[in-house]
Amino acid sequence: PINQRIEDLLRRMTIEEKILQMTQWTYGKNANANNIEASKKAVRPEIGSLIYRSVNPVYRNEIMRKAMEQSRLGIPILMGFDVIHGFRTIYPIPLAQACSWNPNLVAKAAAVAAKESKLSGVDWTFSPMIDVARDPRWGRVAEGYGEDPYTNAVFGVASVKGYQGKNLSDTFSIAACLKHYIGYSLSEGGRDYHYADVSAQTLWDTFMPPYEAGVKAGAATLMSAFNDISGVPASANHFTLTDILKQRWKHDGFVVSDWGSIENLIPQGFAKDRKDAALKSFTAGVEMDMVDNIYADNLPLLLKEHRISMKQVDDAVRRILRLKFKLGLFDKPYVEELPEKDRYYQPESMAIARKLAEESMVLLKNDGQTLPIAHNIKQIALIGPMVKDSINIMGSWEGQGMPSSVETIFDGFKKEFQGKTTLNFAKGCDFDGDDESGFNEASIAAKKSDIIVLCLGEMEKWSGENATRSTLALPVIQQHLFSILKQSGKPIILIISNGRPIELGSLNRLSGAILEIWQPGIAGGSAVAGIISGRLNPSGKLAITFPLTTGQIPTYYNMRQSARPKLGGYQDISSEPNYWFGHGLSYTTFSYSKITLSDSIISKNKNLIARVEITNTGLRDGKETAMWFISDPVASVTRPVKELKFFEKKNLKAGEKQTFQFEIDPIRDLSFPDANGVRHLESGEFYIMLNEQKVKFELVD
Ligand code: IFM
Repeated sequence: PINQRIEDLLRRMTIEEKILQMTQWTYGKNANANNIEASKKAVRPEIGSLIYRSVNPVYRNEIMRKAMEQSRLGIPILMGFDVIHGFRTIYPIPLAQACSWNPNLVAKAAAVAAKESKLSGVDWTFSPMIDVARDPRWGRVAEGYGEDPYTNAVFGVASVKGYQGKNLSDTFSIAACLKHYIGYSLSEGGRDYHYADVSAQTLWDTFMPPYEAGVKAGAATLMSAFNDISGVPASANHFTLTDILKQRWKHDGFVVSDWGSIENLIPQGFAKDRKDAALKSFTAGVEMDMVDNIYADNLPLLLKEHRISMKQVDDAVRRILRLKFKLGLFDKPYVEELPEKDRYYQPESMAIARKLAEESMVLLKNDGQTLPIAHNIKQIALIGPMVKDSINIMGSWEGQGMPSSVETIFDGFKKEFQGKTTLNFAKGCDFDGDDESGFNEASIAAKKSDIIVLCLGEMEKWSGENATRSTLALPVIQQHLFSILKQSGKPIILIISNGRPIELGSLNRLSGAILEIWQPGIAGGSAVAGIISGRLNPSGKLAITFPLTTGQIPTYYNMRQSARPKLGGYQDISSEPNYWFGHGLSYTTFSYSKITLSDSIISKNKNLIARVEITNTGLRDGKETAMWFISDPVASVTRPVKELKFFEKKNLKAGEKQTFQFEIDPIRDLSFPDANGVRHLESGEFYIMLNEQKVKFELVD
């Protein structure tokens, strides 16, 4: 019936109506009761989509009513918004979410974000971002799931499933959008919007797998990226958009351009004017134009000139209408108009926000059990620009988050330590700049206290879109504050909040303990305080490597094998990064038994089972994530040193032993793509790697 309804509409639509369906405008900034009328007047009722920047369901319903009642055919408008890590209840940034290694929790977070969004009038989120991180200077590493393709695939699929629910037509489902298709994270030098030189092999090895998984999981839409992919911009790339996405993978949803990415073909040197840009994007396979109005301005003429066909236009409109039908918008265009108190911060969303913050924090260092802090500590100096911050701690793309709802680190500590420990607060300095006037107060607080908890980090606008940094080091003023406090001789617990790995430099050596809290969202404060006090046991592990210095970039773990593995680093620094992908400490200890394999020689049609027993050998309960890597030392296309193929996180009570298992499916886990994306399974030796262990097995024909 959906197909019939679509074809019936297509038969009745004018060219203008069709092309408006392929057009997205932006509306509703700070929409409130006063500007509903103005917005309503400005919106064309036939528009395909709006970037919806309101929290007001009344606003949505009014605009929607205009579409349903005042357009000739009554086609609903698709309301899209960047719900990246929560709508109003803000969760940790996606990079942090990956460090939780808990995709079920991430799926739940996405489902709750979808509910808050839908109840506010949003039908479609521009999320998840599954661009595999390569250069941490690039600000957008905060928005993805780190440096591993498999991890991006797993978390990308989890969020698609969370947003879209069982059925897109469910009351609280919203459509997902995989972005930014493709190769964006390889923008040269981490500079946003720049050219990306992506070899065909790297495209298939690194960038395609998360997209293929997301498409298979049913992601309704994709966004075409800003970058040029080795000479053909992503937003005009017929190979990626049509040959692969639509023909090979049979995606039946649609592609939306990124903001201005069609018009950007002109400065990129790929189109001579707006008309040429519209022609190139459209024929490559971008169905919806985000805010350029370039399709509306040019496609009618291009049709008249027979440069594009009505069949092509119909195919694009069909894809857009299909999503509107799947979402049930034709039959249920309006949303319930509940008061804010019934839409946001519901117990289920707050519980997820707390749990995700707790599980995504990574204990990087803990010398001599500095943490959790001892019970006899009487006074804590709580110092740094992050302590009372309620904006930066939410991270970039904070949706409709409100600083007033944020539990700051200070709030968390007050609650955690009330009546037991005195907190001596001093801000010390700003995030940046050269005002040292707060140093004195910070030194006094340090002197009075038994221990210093120093909260440093990045402002939210230092990561996200167009927020590249030339260095991963903290600004000099923050490093200087650290040195001043070090003079007190008191142990320093360093808490860092940031949207990318940080070059820690001497702070690494001089801190007793370091807790990476990322940008943990509105419930971050109590999670930090709980980990510091020992109420919570940290369980996060890095989804991205921390380089030793900025000059050491790139440092991702899954590089191809080198000609001289032991040589070829930098002569002035160690070849090892500061903290590898997968690193993360706990307050308990885990011991791993020897890996056992069900066979040491397998054939292509037989799965291999690898098992390990992990025992919690410490005194308290804790969660451990087993990360199973495969290495394929010799192949017809050189393989990375190792590749993550499976992970599993389990809770182990003190003293408890549990079996962790990875079932290796040779076709899925031992094959690799060639430069055309064709997978090959070659017999020979492989290694399975877990923790410090490396066990050989053989695949025979
Ligand atoms: O979704 C975003 C995208 O990630 C970057 N440019 C703007 C889009 C819409 O806000």
